[in-house]
Amino acid sequence: MSAAENSSAEKIARLRAELARHDQLYYRQAEPEITDFAYDMLRRELAELLAQNPELAKEISSVTETPGDDRTEGFAKAAHRAPMLSLDNVYQQSEFFDFTTRLRKLLPAAAPLHFVVEPKIDGVAVSLTYEHGRFVRAVTRGNGTVGDDITRNVATIAALPQQLSGNTPARIEIRGEIYLTNAEFLRINAAREAAGLPLYANPRNLAAGTVKLLDPRETAARKLEIVLYGLGECLPAQFPSLSAFHQQLLDWQLPAVEFFQSADGAEAAWEAIRQLDARRKNFAYPTDGAVVKIDSLAAQNSVGTTSKFPHWAIAYKFQPEQAETQLRAITLQIGRTGAITPVAELEPVELAGTTVSRATLHNADEIARKDIREGDTVVVEKAGEIIPQVVAVLKEKRPETAAPFDFPLRLQELGLDAERAPGEAAWRLKTPSREQQIRALAHFGSKQCLDIENLGPAVAESLFDAGLVAAPEQLYQLTREQLLALDNFAEKSADNLLAALEASKQRELWRLIHALGIPNVGMQTAKDLARHFRDLDQISSADYGQFRQQQRGKNGQLLKGEISLISGVGAVVAQSILSWFSDPAHRARIEALRAAGLNFFDQSSVSTAAGVAGKTFVLTGTLPTLGRDAAREKIEQAGGKVSGSVSAKTDFVVAGAEAGSKLAKAQSLGIAILDEPALLALLAGENSAKEIPPPATNEPFLPGLD
Ligand code: IVH
Repeated sequence: MSAAENSSAEKIARLRAELARHDQLYYRQAEPEITDFAYDMLRRELAELLAQNPELAKEISSVTETPGDDRTEGFAKAAHRAPMLSLDNVYQQSEFFDFTTRLRKLLPAAAPLHFVVEPKIDGVAVSLTYEHGRFVRAVTRGNGTVGDDITRNVATIAALPQQLSGNTPARIEIRGEIYLTNAEFLRINAAREAAGLPLYANPRNLAAGTVKLLDPRETAARKLEIVLYGLGECLPAQFPSLSAFHQQLLDWQLPAVEFFQSADGAEAAWEAIRQLDARRKNFAYPTDGAVVKIDSLAAQNSVGTTSKFPHWAIAYKFQPEQAETQLRAITLQIGRTGAITPVAELEPVELAGTTVSRATLHNADEIARKDIREGDTVVVEKAGEIIPQVVAVLKEKRPETAAPFDFPLRLQELGLDAERAPGEAAWRLKTPSREQQIRALAHFGSKQCLDIENLGPAVAESLFDAGLVAAPEQLYQLTREQLLALDNFAEKSADNLLAALEASKQRELWRLIHALGIPNVGMQTAKDLARHFRDLDQISSADYGQFRQQQRGKNGQLLKGEISLISGVGAVVAQSILSWFSDPAHRARIEALRAAGLNFFDQSSVSTAAGVAGKTFVLTGTLPTLGRDAAREKIEQAGGKVSGSVSAKTDFVVAGAEAGSKLAKAQSLGIAILDEPALLALLAGENSAKEIPPPATNEPFLPGLD
């Protein structure tokens, strides 16, 4: 074997293994890691390699033969009367016309090229059987020949009549697609989030998961919908064409596919595809392409099928909407089971009608495979039209300083103690040790935190070991009786601790923030966060852009590098805060502390921040709209002073783009740092809570993927 063949063989083996893994994720687990487009490209690459190396194609694996198998345990198996085939995909106009040219050659010269064009629905394929008009069975595609019997789940779909009236054949297989509306997807995920359950990534995955629920009552609680387009076996045969079949679906009052168009010839079919693309956003179901089919069933029979695809139909896939933007940072989001999902924090960008500022990166392998780095310019796309994904990195735009992303190192920097089980894609948090938990309790009560007298390390240890308190929020549930039952408590010390706990509820916000034990958030940062946000809920719901922002030049253009909006909050601190608040256990802790009555607000007078009169300012860097002189003039008019160098006497540093050593010095001295909008707000007499408005976003919360 030559070296070239050897490497083709290796490539083929690798592609097959990769496709098998993605098939498993998509069909069985309903949790795809890559977009349909990326998957189709892998499949194409394999097909091309096999075409160039026919001798390697001989030992064809199941991967290349079947399009995937959705069968799972717990369902009776049922055979399809007519096989459920898949469709060949094209992505370009020229490829579409290659298809029509091939067809022209397969059909008799005089035969008309009459097509129907309909939406390609991105749902879960199903075959319904009606006998003498009565609904008897619903079966998944399975391997195309045998599928799972999901009759009881499909029977929950309200729009599906149990009995058809009129012209009903003895037996007919009707094919369609089960889907969920975006609204239903968002409703279910919101309820799951509230219940602390893992979220679904997109409507298709949720639909796939729902048809495979073993309890039909659970299925009924989710509003499955169905749309029909396909004909399997029909006995006796009664349809000359797909348009006749479509009309019959409507007459039976079945939910037939909408915007069903007839087209005479290739050009008319292409025009129908364009029309469909313009309309499909208004459909109730998600669509990802157009399906073009020969209308006449006799003509379909004469051109035939391969083992996978009919020759008489093709799917033209619409390009998903994409946008280019900058990846500011990779943060780590913690799911309910402790699984850690990397998230791309993006420079906000418009995509398919919403502003996108975050995208899922799935797992460490995915980042390594695509070589995604902080600072990269990336292409984002919406998968299932809802959740954004990073689909490509524009390496030619990579800044020289961008380093490969080191997942284990980042875990360490963020103070996350995690491990990766062999064969698992996700890193998971380890459960904290006894010592760590006791230390966290003692930290919570320490002088620099909530200052709970009598809650030292020894008391923390005995409360923990007695099984009374495993986490800080449980301190507020302690009763006098429980304490008195412990060896080291007498009446007086028990009462003292309870009184101290009561007093701790009214402490300043910064003490609570520090007490939470967020890695990399020390006392000074806790103070800065409290002063900036003034409300714990504002911190817990903040996104990356509320901590750090891209630098902008005079005309608002993006510059390299970021600035901190809060002194001392660099990239790692910001990421650490986001990770901590993304952990459902921590969100539950915040709620328990709120319920216990702890103070979440910064009530300190704003006079340290508000007011310009008598304050000393230092200007550094280039402000986006104000010139240096204009800024100085405004400050002086308001009674402030502008000085050239940063010292302990400086009250504010106003930092713009390319701010240098003065900014660094201000940070090291813990001096309040303002950007231009914050300065203008201060001049306008607003309080510091309004210093920097959060960036507008209208995207849903990014679901955890564990
Ligand atoms: S016709 C033999 N029409 O897409 C023809 N399929 O990627 C087979 N699909 O297996 C299907 N919308 O599950 C057809 N209007 C449509 C469709 C459609 C969605 C699904 C179907 C098929 C898959 C192929």
